[in-house]
Amino acid sequence: MTKLRVGIAGLGTVGVGLVKLFADPNSRLNEKLELVAVSARDRAKRRGADVSTYRWFDDPAELAAQSDIDVFVELIGGSAGAAKASVETALSRGAHVVTANKALLALHGAALAETAERTGAKLLFEAAVGGGVPMVKALKESAAGSRASAVAGILNGTCNYILTEMESSGRSFEAVLSEAQQLGYAEADPSTDVGGFDAAHKLTILSAIAFGTRPDYEHVRIEGIERVSLTDIRLAGKLGYRIKLIAKASLADGAVEMHVRPALLAYDHPLANVGGSLNALVVDAEPSGQLTFIGRGAGEGPTAASVASDLIDLAEGRAGFAFGRPLSQLATAPRGTPSERGRYYLRLLVADRPGVVAAISDRLAHEDISIESFLQMPVHDGPSVPIVLTTQTCARAKMENAVAAIEALDVITEAPFVMPVEHAGPRWSRS
Ligand code: NAP
Ligand code: HSE
Repeated sequence: MTKLRVGIAGLGTVGVGLVKLFADPNSRLNEKLELVAVSARDRAKRRGADVSTYRWFDDPAELAAQSDIDVFVELIGGSAGAAKASVETALSRGAHVVTANKALLALHGAALAETAERTGAKLLFEAAVGGGVPMVKALKESAAGSRASAVAGILNGTCNYILTEMESSGRSFEAVLSEAQQLGYAEADPSTDVGGFDAAHKLTILSAIAFGTRPDYEHVRIEGIERVSLTDIRLAGKLGYRIKLIAKASLADGAVEMHVRPALLAYDHPLANVGGSLNALVVDAEPSGQLTFIGRGAGEGPTAASVASDLIDLAEGRAGFAFGRPLSQLATAPRGTPSERGRYYLRLLVADRPGVVAAISDRLAHEDISIESFLQMPVHDGPSVPIVLTTQTCARAKMENAVAAIEALDVITEAPFVMPVEHAGPRWSRS
């Protein structure tokens, strides 16, 4: 039997993980596939796997152009440059592409899928979303018989690791981020993770598959975790909440609303205990009912295993359309409006003076907003003191008005920080 000949471009965390799987005699990969060529920037670099037996290319596009390579695996990263050029080269000549590159897919997925359909190539990307958790295939295949109304969850392992470790160890944001980088979780530029952009790339892909729409990254409202402090984590904890970076897309009346933002989850929320580098996805769909997927969302082994699963699908003839249906059947969905009502967490840094709390309560009451819980910390280092509160359900516009009025008070010494409180109900599509 002729084996599919594979070339891997990118020999970092994921690429080396995949080379190790090819070297594992117990892996199913070698039954129907053969690794023949590799590419990275620096041939002399010491890597965690022996690549000396494979043909070497300094230029990944040159590897992608080789007529004897049946499958080009792109594990370089980035939405432009070498990754984009080499994937285009492979697809244009009809070679299949497997990639873990969510940035490339979120920004150029439709154009790449179009090229693939034109040349008869397959474009697969299970590893691009959720690391080792089979979210892409689950939506494309297992949930295809249902209609999804919302997909929501924790889609960035680095942020989840940072928030979890800050809470459990009290270490700083910077210290924990550096650890996440060492563990191979973070993107080459970690601001892609902590700024919420990586989760937004993944949400764009999941939303396109779940709702049958064209990938539309520009429509994701994105807020990262940069402003989440140890104070927030500790005080939210005292109020009974855990902070998570939540990515959510919902479909209502044909319009899609997508956002990524840090949010408070009550301790009994189903996602509150998804910690460390774990990712989770909750799908609201009918008639299947709610589906939940949880597993390791980043790192060498889980991600390489997802790439390998795509390669095995290709070898066994199971690969379908990139986004689950032909590009011509993907709708261009209008942008939905964000939910009008919700509960909120507000953190303020205020001058420690009499009457401050009354002034804040007054601005909230003026907008008909009731306080659910309130915490003021004793002064420890300086003239300002943190105050945090959560509200009862109120109109988003009224909360924005109240925050603007509070910010205008002369006792406010730092821009207020607002996060939504996610509800713990069974359906994400309602919040
Ligand atoms: P990485 O460790 O930074 O490795 C990137 C690799 O690409 C390196 O081997 C580098 O070569 C090579 N490279 C960079 N620019 C190149 C160029 N111009 N020409 C040739 N080779 C080039 O990245 P990674 O963490 O493995 O991630 C790879 C992809 O998987 C990214 O799209 C990422 O978003 C995605 N992903 C990563 C994870 C994860 O947990 N790490 C999970 C899911 C998806 P040198 O080694 O010679 O410098
Ligand atoms: N940087 C990504 C994360 C890798 O932390 O989730 C997995 O896609």
